[in-house]
Amino acid sequence: MSPSKGSPTEVGLRRLATPAVQSLAPYLPGKPIDELERELGIRNVVKLASNESPFGPSPKAIAAARTALATIGQYPDGGGHELKTKLARLHGVSAEQLTLGNGSNDILVLVAEAFLTPDLEAVYSQYAFAVYPIAVHATGATCRSVAALPAGAAMAYGHDLTAMRAAITERTRLVFIANPNNPTGTYVEPQDLLRFIRSMPRSALVVLDEAYFEYARSIPLQNGIDWLDECPNLVIVRTFAKAYGLAGLRIGYAVSHPEVADMLNRIRQPFNVSSVALAAAAAALDDPEHVAHTVAVAISERVRVATVLRQRGLEVAPSAGNFLLVRIGPAAAACYQRLLRAGIIVRPVGNYGLPEHLRITLGTIDENERLLAALTTVLAAGSL
Ligand SMILES: Cc1ncc(COP(=O)(O)O)c(C=O)c1O
Repeated sequence: MSPSKGSPTEVGLRRLATPAVQSLAPYLPGKPIDELERELGIRNVVKLASNESPFGPSPKAIAAARTALATIGQYPDGGGHELKTKLARLHGVSAEQLTLGNGSNDILVLVAEAFLTPDLEAVYSQYAFAVYPIAVHATGATCRSVAALPAGAAMAYGHDLTAMRAAITERTRLVFIANPNNPTGTYVEPQDLLRFIRSMPRSALVVLDEAYFEYARSIPLQNGIDWLDECPNLVIVRTFAKAYGLAGLRIGYAVSHPEVADMLNRIRQPFNVSSVALAAAAAALDDPEHVAHTVAVAISERVRVATVLRQRGLEVAPSAGNFLLVRIGPAAAACYQRLLRAGIIVRPVGNYGLPEHLRITLGTIDENERLLAALTTVLAAGSL
């Protein structure tokens, strides 16, 4: 080991990891506010980079989290009884159909670990959520990324369900569909999705990732949970990180057939969700008005901001989420840097194969106004 603990010399330990893990590209998160404020010595940074809710959680959730702090000397309820009881009532399912996760990301990893082996395949769309390839790769299974709809299509960059169906073979064990999808915001229509799911062989599970489901209210999209009786090979994934404003506490869940939930619950860590997260999520369900307000602002801002951006000649993908995918052009990376200097963090999506785009989370009206003003300045002739 080198004398400097901070920068040990390369000793080849990466080579001891499985080949699948060595080949992984790490997930790139949005830049934290603190980091930018430290780097630039500025305050009042606006983060529109991680599809969080600008309104945070319900006051009821915060109060419940505070109360739960008194119990953190003990392990949480590993069965998540209170939260599962409430979720079961909300969705009209049984508690045996629920699996709780440390964020819905945890659920995605659990599904991959439980159902994939190196001789199997998982299918997802080009530009689908970056965690799918990470979770699949880590198991050694093969990733089948299916070309998305082309830029000129009505649902540009969206899932091409016909092409995805054609990619399914007897080796396909998982199909991931994010509806709406991140980072594109695009969506598939309920009747097309149901036809796709009905056409699936029973040897494959469809993981329907509804992280942004609440924001699709105005479209409207499916509630995949309604299809579970007819389609037992469906796994619905939901999160408290977006419309419920609890991204920092890490809590999400799956609704599935009890047999799938049984498999997921066998491999999850016994205490994968903290007592504070369990309490806050359960209390958040008691404040549907807070979620309704969060969603209503996001939807009206989605329309308003997209309209302004299109009026300025920018291409904006159709979105059913709390964010917009905007085509800036070859100067997207420079634009991102200039926005940082203006104290606004958005998300570059070059890692998704979209180097000319930026993904912009919808914030409060004031935050969005700051973004639009800064973008106007940055995009002004000769500025980039
Ligand atoms: C489509 C999609 N699924 C799942 C997640 C994971 O969310 P979390 O782990 O915070 O619940 C995200 C996060 O951005 C997402 O965009």
